Amino acid sequence: MERLRVTGGASLRGSVRVSGAKNSALKLMASTLLAEGNSTLRDVPAITDVHYMAELLRRLGADVTRADNTVTIGVPDKVAHEAPYELVRRLRASICVLGPLLARCGAADVALPGGDAIGSRGLDMHIAGLQRLGAEVDVEHGYVVARAPRGLHGTLIGLDFPSVGATENILMAAVLARGETVIDNVAREPEIVDLCEMLIEMGARIDGVGSSTLRVEGVDRLEPADHVTVPDRIVAGTWAVAALMTRGDITVTNARADHLELVLDKLTRAGAEIEAGANGGLRVAMSDRPRAIDVVTLPYPGFPTDLQPMVVALNAVADGTAMITENVYEARFMFVNELVRLGAEVRIDGHHAVVRGRESLSGAPVVATDIRAGAGLVLAGLVSAGETLVSAVQHIDRGYPNFVGQLGELGAEVVREPDPDRFDD
Ligand code: UD1
Repeated sequence: MERLRVTGGASLRGSVRVSGAKNSALKLMASTLLAEGNSTLRDVPAITDVHYMAELLRRLGADVTRADNTVTIGVPDKVAHEAPYELVRRLRASICVLGPLLARCGAADVALPGGDAIGSRGLDMHIAGLQRLGAEVDVEHGYVVARAPRGLHGTLIGLDFPSVGATENILMAAVLARGETVIDNVAREPEIVDLCEMLIEMGARIDGVGSSTLRVEGVDRLEPADHVTVPDRIVAGTWAVAALMTRGDITVTNARADHLELVLDKLTRAGAEIEAGANGGLRVAMSDRPRAIDVVTLPYPGFPTDLQPMVVALNAVADGTAMITENVYEARFMFVNELVRLGAEVRIDGHHAVVRGRESLSGAPVVATDIRAGAGLVLAGLVSAGETLVSAVQHIDRGYPNFVGQLGELGAEVVREPDPDRFDD
């Protein structure tokens, strides 16, 4: 077990590059199962979740190799259809092999995932969608067991809520179904658009990309593709918030400002100076204490729930009082108890958090409860007097490639060290 020792006080300055998005790369990797042959994915982030997805694809029969940030996945004619618990429990996103396996093999046994401790994270919409496509789907002995021996057929599916994962699973099943599938109220996250673009490169026929309704005309087979992963808007947003909190000046390269419109608007209202470069990238500078900003998390293009811990941390040191409303995950305020250990003044009432900003926080030992909470706590540590020890750093490793290295390049004092106090996760 390791932890981060964060020494507060530095103002972050310099340039960092953001790599491809975790939440896209994992799904792109799963989508390669839809076509026999070698697919190449570029700008795949060096994070542990990608490592676990590679393990899972190998278990299904694929040959996965990685050189720098390029991952090559050789998918055989016959793939296995069981995603076992010992691999799935490490990575909730492995549920996204369900749709591709069902479409490709007519069968899928995928263990129910574990994943971040941020709420119940049901699968009802995934299951109902696949059933509408003609599959028999049950949950047995901790597995989702799906069968479609005569193949899948096109249909009309309306999602109750624009779930990212359900959209992806249903889409990846529908591309090989017979006839037309119309999926209404789909998620519109840039990572979904990226997946659609990859599937179209593979030969899928999809209309309405980026809108709330996807029309998919099933094809008999798909071909492998060569695709560059969309940049990670959550990592880019994390650096932007870091610039505000530490009153720094950070240039984030390979960032898509158009995927962060609402976030950048909020940060501008908090007082940041933000310039979006013509050929990608942004510069975020801040000289004064940030002003408090109210935020409501919603599916894209709303404010991303994955940046909620960072804005709670930002408001903890801002001038004024802010209300943060979490609409996506019921338990995502769990990490606030850790922030309070640093002296933050936060009151939780259901899915609202009222944050009263303080001039400064004071360093203490805290525990990262999930990827984004971990990053939020590190940012809080950067503006806390003295040292903040962030344990359970493995959560941060799941989503932030070379986080400590990049923090160091920006002038932060953050050291990774063994954690003598923790033996579990
Ligand atoms: C993905 C992202 C995650 C992000 C989230 C919302 C990945 C690997 N993870 O997660 O980082 O925070 O989108 O932007 O891409 N729900 C149901 N039933 C379902 C499906 C979802 O009740 O069948 C609920 C979940 O419990 C949750 C909410 O819907 O409360 C959002 O889930 P969803 O959009 O599916 O998120 P994920 O795909 O799990």
